[in-house]
Amino acid sequence: MAVERTLSIIKPDAVAKNVIGEIYTRFEKAGLKVVASKMKHLSKAEAEGFYAEHKERGFFADLVAFMTSGPVMVQVLEGEGAVLKNRELMGATNPKEAAAGTIRADFAESIDANAVHGSDSTTSAAREVAYFFAVTEICPR
Ligand code: PPS
Repeated sequence: MAVERTLSIIKPDAVAKNVIGEIYTRFEKAGLKVVASKMKHLSKAEAEGFYAEHKERGFFADLVAFMTSGPVMVQVLEGEGAVLKNRELMGATNPKEAAAGTIRADFAESIDANAVHGSDSTTSAAREVAYFFAVTEICPR
C-alpha cells in the first residue's frame, strides 16, 4: 500500500474536552505518524475557504460558526493508506452512526460538533495539507 499524507483537524469541541492526546494516541497506535501540527483559532475567512466546496449547503454557516468557536489542532498524518485509515479511525460523520471504538463514537456529541475532520481522498488531502502547511513545516521521518 502506498504511503500517503492526510490532513486531520481536531475540532473545537474535542480540543475543549482536552482529548488531543487521546486522539493522537489512536493515530499512533494505527501506524500513522504526525509529521506536522499546529494549534490555530481559525478566522471566519479561513474556515470559509477551507470548506468552500460546501458553501451551498444549508449547514455551511453553522459549520463555519462552529469551526471558529475555539481553537483547533491541525495535523498532517503520514502512513500507508493514511487517508482511508484516518477515516476509519474517525467513524461516520454523524456520531450516532459511528461504529463503536471510533473517535466520533467516543468523543463527538452531534453531527455539527463531531470532534474531527479528515481528508476524504488523496486529492482533497493535497489541497487541505497545502491550505494549512508550507512544505518546510512538514517533517517526514
Ligand atoms: S463528508 O464526509 O465530508 O461527505 O460529510 P458531509 O456530510 O458532506 O459533511 C461535510 C462537512 O460538514 C459537516 N456537517 C455539518 N456541520 C454542521 N451542521 C450540520 N448539520 C452538518 N452536517 C455535516 C460535517 O461534519 C463535515 O465536516 P468535516 O470537517 O468535513 O468532517
